Amino acid sequence: MKPVEIAEGIYDVGVVDWNIRDFHGYSTYAGTTYNAFLIIDEKTVLVDTVKSPFGEQLIENIARIIDPKKIDCVVSNHTEMDHSGSLPRIMHLIGEDKPLYCSKMGAKNLARHFRQPYRYHPLKSGDELALGRRTLQFLETRMVHWPDSMFTYLKEDRILFSSDGFGQHYASHEKFDDTAPVEAVMFQAKKYFANILLLYAPRILKLLEQVAALGLKIDMICPDHGIIWRKNPEKIIAAYEKWSRPSTERKAVVVYDTMWNSTRSMAEAVAAGIAAEGVAVRPFHIRSSHRSDIMTEVLDARAVVVGSPTLNNQMFPTVADFLTYMKGLKPQAKLGGFFGSYGWSGEGAALVQKELEAMSFELIQPGVKIQYVPDSEGLDACFAYGRKIGRAV
Ligand code: FEO
Repeated sequence: MKPVEIAEGIYDVGVVDWNIRDFHGYSTYAGTTYNAFLIIDEKTVLVDTVKSPFGEQLIENIARIIDPKKIDCVVSNHTEMDHSGSLPRIMHLIGEDKPLYCSKMGAKNLARHFRQPYRYHPLKSGDELALGRRTLQFLETRMVHWPDSMFTYLKEDRILFSSDGFGQHYASHEKFDDTAPVEAVMFQAKKYFANILLLYAPRILKLLEQVAALGLKIDMICPDHGIIWRKNPEKIIAAYEKWSRPSTERKAVVVYDTMWNSTRSMAEAVAAGIAAEGVAVRPFHIRSSHRSDIMTEVLDARAVVVGSPTLNNQMFPTVADFLTYMKGLKPQAKLGGFFGSYGWSGEGAALVQKELEAMSFELIQPGVKIQYVPDSEGLDACFAYGRKIGRAV
């Protein structure tokens, strides 16, 4: 993609990754972008780089605007390699004695990644860098997404370079929220939050309060993934506030796997019972849906109900995979339910229960276990269990 001038003398020189479909276990059906920003002033600054295989494209993009060797310094907002992978190449090109600005943790983490003695300038919140007509101000944003993460704010232009924050895995020729289909972008922003940032929701709420208290005026938010928010940056900020709080929506997710369709029948009866109480319900067969898509629906669901057959005295392995994934993302204040069919030993549903308890879910008791194949009485019990969940939502 050609560089896009996003404001006078400020360019997105990043790249589009149209073909990525798996981002460390997160399904990226819409591809992604690695955004990087060039600010031309008395000092020329590059904010972030791109994933390593796209380094040459980054350099070509910069070269369409200036000789890359004229870059005076680099700001690294985040060490993760989708943003730092091309840093060694850039530093080698511009001169390894040029200053590299990052957070204190960024200096440590970049050193641990690349083992190079760059001229690190570790920053703390409130530090500034004068570029000439413009000034960069830095804000540490630990755990949004890594301990090294920070935001860079361009004061005079009121532009926030927000690294992973407010990003979306969304590949597009359109670059802004007023040119891209905004609802599709918002869906990808929600998926990003649910799968990358949810476990840091309490920190994000505090960060949003901190940004408000600082009185930062924001005309444009430039994340390192996806489109830039310029028409309505308040929309994504409001969405982050909403997603950072426990959901109060009347919605439930039913997640299950099945061996001989018994747990599937149970799941469908549970879901029908929930729906009978006027609650929106999303059933997911785990092997038909990616865990990251299920998690997107979990984000704003009040209840998560999980069904598993018993296999070799364990819950089904795909159910364990999903529960491990969800546990790591720490959803807060959820109602939980559990059910499953079994042949003889029957541990599956009880093991699901234990995992949901470990996540501090408020469980709707008792769950339902059925031996072999559910008869109509068994399905009625599942439906009744769904209604009980629905009433609690
Ligand atoms: Fe887009 Fe945490 O990296």
